[in-house]
Amino acid sequence: MRVSLVKIFKHRITQKYLARSGINHAVTVAANAYELAIQNSVCPELAAKSALLHDMGHYEWYRDGKWDYEEYRRHDIHAIKGAERAHKLLIRLGEDRLAAKEVAVAVLLHTDSYLPFSLEGKRTPLQAVIEEADRMDEQPGGLHHYKEMEQDIAIKILSRLDEKISDYYDNG
Ligand SMILES: [Fe+2]
Repeated sequence: MRVSLVKIFKHRITQKYLARSGINHAVTVAANAYELAIQNSVCPELAAKSALLHDMGHYEWYRDGKWDYEEYRRHDIHAIKGAERAHKLLIRLGEDRLAAKEVAVAVLLHTDSYLPFSLEGKRTPLQAVIEEADRMDEQPGGLHHYKEMEQDIAIKILSRLDEKISDYYDNG
């Protein structure tokens, strides 16, 4: 049985971490990644899952109650933490182990902001889809993390994506 996006989203671990980096951003990037995956012959299920979880490694970046995104970015390793959290969560939910690894590595490489080298041109098609899907929703100063979205709207969008992924498997 496929682990659905809705099931992943509703898990308390996902809820805890996505509350920090923003449900709106996670769901929007998942929808972007689904579309890009279809266009680029990448597995839409792996793309949507990686995108949904890509920012789950964030912690809160307030200092003295003030937004300090630039300071946060200097110390940030959210892609590393997110990769591990996503992997642990998916294994716990009974995800296929190879799929869990693909998702974890796509989360790890969705940005190169923490690396001493560029990943430009070095990503696999799946990894490139996640990077682009994320960039499509980016706003200056990290404001994309603060867009709001109600839980029921998020679940509606994700269950629609789950249906589209099922159709993709049914119809090749
Ligand atoms: Fe992001």
